Amino acid sequence: MARRVSLAGRLPAFPWDSLAPHRARAEQHPGGIVDLSVGTPVDPTPASVQQALADAADSHGYPTTIGTPALREALVRFVQRRLGAPADLGVESVLSTIGSKELVAHLPFQVGIGAGGAIAFPHIAYPTYEMGALFVGADPVPVDIERLADEGDAAFADAPGGTAAIDRIGLLWLNSPSNPTGAVLSVERMRSLVDWARERGIVVASDECYALLPWDVDAVTSILDPRVHGGDLTGLLCVYSLSKQSNLAGYRAAFVAGDPALVAELTAIRKQAGMMLPGPVQAAMATALDDDAAVDAQREIYRRRRDVLRPALEAAGGRIPRSEAGLYLWTAFGESSEASVARLADLGILCAPGMFYGGAGDGFVRIALTASDERIDAAAERLTRP
Ligand SMILES: Cc1ncc(COP(=O)(O)O)c(C=O)c1O
Repeated sequence: MARRVSLAGRLPAFPWDSLAPHRARAEQHPGGIVDLSVGTPVDPTPASVQQALADAADSHGYPTTIGTPALREALVRFVQRRLGAPADLGVESVLSTIGSKELVAHLPFQVGIGAGGAIAFPHIAYPTYEMGALFVGADPVPVDIERLADEGDAAFADAPGGTAAIDRIGLLWLNSPSNPTGAVLSVERMRSLVDWARERGIVVASDECYALLPWDVDAVTSILDPRVHGGDLTGLLCVYSLSKQSNLAGYRAAFVAGDPALVAELTAIRKQAGMMLPGPVQAAMATALDDDAAVDAQREIYRRRRDVLRPALEAAGGRIPRSEAGLYLWTAFGESSEASVARLADLGILCAPGMFYGGAGDGFVRIALTASDERIDAAAERLTRP
């Protein structure tokens, strides 16, 4: 028997590496590259947050996994004020994480899913849901989430493993607003998904980091909203990040909130593993959570960029079917993703091919709103130039 089997060797290639030739091509554009691929924030971290970080710079002792009382209370205030969580939700329902990517990747392990188990997630999705399944040897089951909400088990007929896989699913990922499509799940669909999962004892983790960037919808519904869970958070987790809404990607400030029993399980494991947010980041995060004005101002910055880029893409023949919320314009030009990426690279615009988000994404490209106003204007000008 082998002493070890390389896990890295069993993972798919890191998709972003394959963009290198297109990046090189876009960089040759005389007006410079407009990088709309990764979606990393380009605007400054709010001054209030930078100050809080600096004020907490003397951090000689170990931080705790559960976080400071100030951070935990700020988390409770935030989920109640901005995500519609119940008024009686307490600090035992919230836990900070070191950015949310680590939680997405390791949640299957931390909730006890292993080889033989299965994890369902949207069939067009942020790739880390699948990685989390592969890390623990579980089967990844991409499924059309809206169909699952509307039709239940039948949605798995076309998924890997078919409906037989349902009995092995321990975790269902939701992502609304979706990265990459921007689609938002209605209250009714969220409730139906929660009901479906609960009847089967499946944990639901709802990744909602773009919730405060609604465009074509009035608001985005969180899994913490009582209209979704009827006052009972059992088996439910909201996964949330401040990276985008507060320009904090470099701080790694995120959290999970929901079922206190599940949060206690995660806390126990994360304590043993030394997974705690650095002390100065805890202070900065507490400040960011309370700074609604900064979040709202940032949303207006993205609104302007979206208002410039969306019509330019449509004028260039792009079709943008959803993109109801969030940071991406999920665009189809009536050709393969690869052809669109290459054509846009010729214009000096770098974007991500739809297949990065699953085979069902072919035909689309993901175009991020995360570039300066000047770069967004340059992209729009190139797209609409006769
Ligand atoms: C859907 C989704 N979840 C999670 C993350 C991870 O965010 P972070 O690790 O910066 O908190 C991202 C980042 O792009 C994302 O799009």
